[in-house]
Amino acid sequence: MIFILILSLAAVAASLNPPVVAVVTGGTRGLGLGIAQQLAAGGSSLLLTYNQNRTAAASAAASIVREFPKVRVELVGGDLALPATRAAIFNKLDESYQDCRLSSVVHNAGQYVGVTSANCANLGSVSHLQFGDGSLLCEDGSVDFGPMHYYQQLYGECWVDLAERAMARMKEHGEGGSIVGISSPGCTVQYNPQTGYSMPGSGKSLMEYSMRIYAAQGSKSKIRCNVVVPGVTITDAWTNLAATRGTDRETITGGLSKSMGVETMTPRECGGVVAFLCSDAGKHVNGVSLPVDNGLHLKA
Ligand SMILES: *[C@@H]1O[C@H](CO)[C@@H](O)[C@H](O)[C@H]1NC(C)=O
Repeated sequence: MIFILILSLAAVAASLNPPVVAVVTGGTRGLGLGIAQQLAAGGSSLLLTYNQNRTAAASAAASIVREFPKVRVELVGGDLALPATRAAIFNKLDESYQDCRLSSVVHNAGQYVGVTSANCANLGSVSHLQFGDGSLLCEDGSVDFGPMHYYQQLYGECWVDLAERAMARMKEHGEGGSIVGISSPGCTVQYNPQTGYSMPGSGKSLMEYSMRIYAAQGSKSKIRCNVVVPGVTITDAWTNLAATRGTDRETITGGLSKSMGVETMTPRECGGVVAFLCSDAGKHVNGVSLPVDNGLHLKA
């Protein structure tokens, strides 16, 4: 009798408080992995996306499960600039996480086009493209929109796709949730403009702007939406970027840190702030673009 009572109480508790799942794009390496690890530390199961390397992604997923045996990790691969990849994320959620409540979505995935990852538009390195210096002009006088459109799909359109679908689910289960975008220095007036970030920044601007509208709309349903602007984080993206410039990661990050006069941080340290925004303790933070940058915004 008591046994049955305990069982049925447990069933009630489980239905009142189902386990939670968080989506982290680009969650199998770099900053995304740090975010995923910190969300797992808080008890979230995970749906992580990766661009191309299934073997590397699976090994990252396995390392998370080894460290946090209570969480489940599922993977979805593909270029997030493609609508089909975004659809696959939500199909996977429906398929594999029926018993979980979607609590958080973090759009972290990013790349230096042509440097840190391949892309569906087959674009090479575009680091020389900037607004206003003539570099966007083609020989026939027209403007080359290719890289700009790709970044707008990867950062802006994908973000809107994730936020729209996540909000609908969070409203449906009624428990609210947290939507976080990872932006970069230079996209808001907290920072000086960063000319070298012209193309990616054109995509992050849509993220920064719409974040405030999602935040205002979501507040009626306990859904909060924020952006985090990381400073100098030590990730493999720098390794690849360094290689194209004939140097190494430590030289680049060390140089940046020194010239800017700010500390560097690990993916987990920055990920902890994202996890805070997704936690109960962070539930009253809504609609902010938050520098997590050791004060870089005061200088850059
Ligand atoms: C994919 O990742 C694995 C494991 O990290 C690595 O050995 C392999 O070289 C990678 N493949 C490609 C095509 O980069």
